[in-house]
Amino acid sequence: MTTIAILGCGYIGQRLARHYLDRGETLLAVVRSPASAAALNAAGIPALALDLAQREQTLAALSLAGARVFHLVPPPESGTDDPHTRNLVAAFAATGTPARVVYIGTTGVYGDCGGAWVDEDRPVQPQADRALRRWDAEQTLRRWAADTGAALVTLRVAGIYGPGRLPLERLRAGLPLVRPEEAPWSNRIHADDLVTACLAAMDRGSPGAVYNACDDHPSTMTDYFFQVADAAGLPRPPVIPLAEADGQISPGMLSYLRESRRLSNRKLVEGLGVRLRYPSLAEGLPACF
Ligand SMILES: NC(=O)c1ccc[n+]([C@@H]2O[C@H](COP(=O)([O-])OP(=O)(O)OC[C@H]3O[C@@H](n4cnc5c(N)ncnc54)[C@H](OP(=O)(O)O)[C@@H]3O)[C@@H](O)[C@H]2O)c1
Repeated sequence: MTTIAILGCGYIGQRLARHYLDRGETLLAVVRSPASAAALNAAGIPALALDLAQREQTLAALSLAGARVFHLVPPPESGTDDPHTRNLVAAFAATGTPARVVYIGTTGVYGDCGGAWVDEDRPVQPQADRALRRWDAEQTLRRWAADTGAALVTLRVAGIYGPGRLPLERLRAGLPLVRPEEAPWSNRIHADDLVTACLAAMDRGSPGAVYNACDDHPSTMTDYFFQVADAAGLPRPPVIPLAEADGQISPGMLSYLRESRRLSNRKLVEGLGVRLRYPSLAEGLPACF
């Protein structure tokens, strides 16, 4: 079997790594910092420290010809393009084409959809810079796949939650949220189900295909926090009118509140054959504690 490469081997990548190592596959994990690489190596996950922002180093260090590649490295924190993905594609061009690339993107590329149901045929409309960076990454990879004939599968991933990935600190701080009747639609996926989706995309995703990766039940950000608070035995946070959110809610959170959409996962479930273990927060949250 060819090597599995997990670029950006963090919370989700480590779950993928365990899956493949348990099956005796040859694996290489890539992380940015030497400290993360040392921690992974100590935990039995062979890892290399490499910052994809460093073009020359990336070209020199990454040789992924024939490999099965999961690309989970996020774009930089600022700007409107993704040099990490551009450098990665340059490394592919220099050192040989992987057998397949599964890219973990985000649903932010759809932008604000006014609460409409959204499937993969909906034209993208990235608005926030974070979404423009993700769209740049998708386009860079798509161009590379078209030029080389390589197999690329893209997952557009909703908000990830799971054990150790819940907004408990924010809840403990008692920070306000937008009141339920004004809160926009948003979408989530349990970490275990995202791993299942990543594995399915690698095994049988259609080359060139895009799949939304989310559970069956869109909710609102406020509802999500309420449900997490209830499951954790914490008080529900205070709520404020949307009109008062500026200044009381962080700019990062506000940028998510400017977008409302309900994602369809039909293609993931029916087209890719992914069976969700946690179709809604009601099943997923109790499994986080
Ligand atoms: N959080 C969400 O709700 C959400 C939703 C949709 C999509 N996503 C995306 O899904 C992907 C996986 O998420 P996750 O939670 O597993 O991420 P994570 O735990 O934050 O891990 C990210 C990994 O990427 C590595 N990395 C970051 N910048 C890098 C660079 N310049 N060069 C090389 N490696 C770099 C990090 O290495 P170090 O540890 O050394 O920094 C880390 O191993 C990410 O791209 C994330 O943005 C997240």
